[in-house]
Amino acid sequence: MAQKLIIDTDPGIDDAMAIHMAFADQRLNVIGMTSIFGNVPTSTATRNAIRLAEMANYKTIVAGGAKIPLIRPAEPAADFVHGVEGFGTVPPATPAGTADARSAAEFICDSCAAMPGEIIICAVGPLTNLALALRLDPAIANNVKSVVIMGGSVAYHGNVTTCAEANIWNDPDAADAVFAANWDLTMVGLDVTEKTQCTPHDFDQLAMSSPEIGGFLRDATEFYFDFHEQKTNIRSCFMHDPSAILAITDPNLFKFETMPMRVVCDGKEIGRTKRHEDGDRRKIKVAMDVKSEMARQKFLALVANADSISLSRKVSS
Ligand code: BDR
Ligand code: CA
Repeated sequence: MAQKLIIDTDPGIDDAMAIHMAFADQRLNVIGMTSIFGNVPTSTATRNAIRLAEMANYKTIVAGGAKIPLIRPAEPAADFVHGVEGFGTVPPATPAGTADARSAAEFICDSCAAMPGEIIICAVGPLTNLALALRLDPAIANNVKSVVIMGGSVAYHGNVTTCAEANIWNDPDAADAVFAANWDLTMVGLDVTEKTQCTPHDFDQLAMSSPEIGGFLRDATEFYFDFHEQKTNIRSCFMHDPSAILAITDPNLFKFETMPMRVVCDGKEIGRTKRHEDGDRRKIKVAMDVKSEMARQKFLALVANADSISLSRKVSS
């Protein structure tokens, strides 16, 4: 039986890579996606998530998430990384489908209550929806199978400030609530996500094997490569969000350490993730190393097949 998954996401170019990889992986059943601000405003993230599902003929529910952080004002969207519409210079498109009537937090709570112990939530954006779900129904900490997040950094630097990673930085209070909850939590942060990189050549190859989905990703990543090249002088890109999905499907690609974790919520180091010293929190798994070449190959092999899997879904529906 495929693993039931809810992806909480702000698509976003690397979100799109992660989502198409998950759609192409028969080991996963993406029962829903919930949207969040971060790379783009929430309404754009909702539209983009529906568009990605329709592009892959994937029947799933999309529920719109929070529009602002728990407590503090929203930071500007990361349009310099993902483009104003979220997929670089790929023109925006209005999908045929619409979002679920429920909020992201309601959808998450309903799903976990209906299928206790069966769902993994993979959050690859700011963690506001998860914090709201914990508030709405604290029982989800027991009902969910596990939670995997892309965010934070332990032994590494930040990518917004010297110490804060973007998803944590965008709502540090929500992230701290997620780290404080008594659930099975894995953090996949910059310690590993920047170690796995893909090149324009990789996406050219994907566009040949899967012209629709690979071609879309090739076009979207042009902008992403520009951003990374300005930062690193190398035309390759970090595999942030796909790494979180791979930590679910292929955990043996990663080396994990366990520790309780907290987020610095004020002062100069706001948004930094660090070991929680007081000992009153459940330990979480933190990905500290990755077999990066194998992770890259896994991503490329799955997405290379994305069009044929999408076509088979279309034929059988
Ligand atoms: C994270 O921030 C976003 O820009 C990416 O989609 C990823 O989830 C990386 O720091
Ligand atoms: Ca993201």
